[in-house]
Amino acid sequence: MIISCLNQKGGVGKTTVSVNLAACLSRTGARVLLIDADPQGSALDWAAAREGEPLFSVVGFPRPSIHKEIVQLGQGYDHIVIDGPPRVSDLARSAIMAADVILIPVQPSPYDIWAADEVVKLISEAKVYKENLKSVFVVNRKITNTAIGRDVGEALAAYLLPVLAATVAQRVVFAEAAAQGKSIFEIDAEGSAAREIETVMAELMEFVL
Ligand SMILES: Nc1ncnc2c1ncn2[C@@H]1O[C@H](COP(=O)(O)OP(=O)(O)O)[C@@H](O)[C@H]1O
Ligand SMILES: [Mg+2]
Repeated sequence: MIISCLNQKGGVGKTTVSVNLAACLSRTGARVLLIDADPQGSALDWAAAREGEPLFSVVGFPRPSIHKEIVQLGQGYDHIVIDGPPRVSDLARSAIMAADVILIPVQPSPYDIWAADEVVKLISEAKVYKENLKSVFVVNRKITNTAIGRDVGEALAAYLLPVLAATVAQRVVFAEAAAQGKSIFEIDAEGSAAREIETVMAELMEFVL
């Protein structure tokens, strides 16, 4: 499966979600490639901060030809996660065309959800060429033990794209893990953050089937 994690807005959790989903997939024994399509190279920074064995391969490919090179790049891998670039660009378009499924992380505020309209537009353009392209929102940085507000639900519903029931909460462990080039599974495999990422992965797999 090829998952592109996209949203032109910075700071919504594309890199955080990408890295931890890749880690989650690799825990099942799958061979996983993480493609860093962000010219800023945050996923590469993550990998560089790491001491010890890598969990999965990470390559930088911030070029608008990902969709053309993906077969070559992904040779020998079971799953590919693309950590998308900020801003709407040829890069984002290419990451959409390369994917089986687009995962759009959004923060649970209507402003953030409205800001996703550009990536949603790119996805509908791509569907002209790629009928089977799937895309879904995932709410990241949800405040623990709070309900997603009605305003947030309404803002999401306006897009006609599905939203995963699974959410990822605001948890310091995500930032702590990132600082060490680790996944949250290495910090606390039994913790709530790990459970959330596993639940997102499971729901995403089911969604793609
Ligand atoms: N669920 C979360 N809980 C706590 N911090 C988070 C969470 N998701 C992302 N962050 C933090 O927010 C910042 C931006 O996240 P990042 O994944 O780099 O976003 P993007 O790749 O979309 O720019 C980072 O400092 C990251 O550690
Ligand atoms: Mg990023």
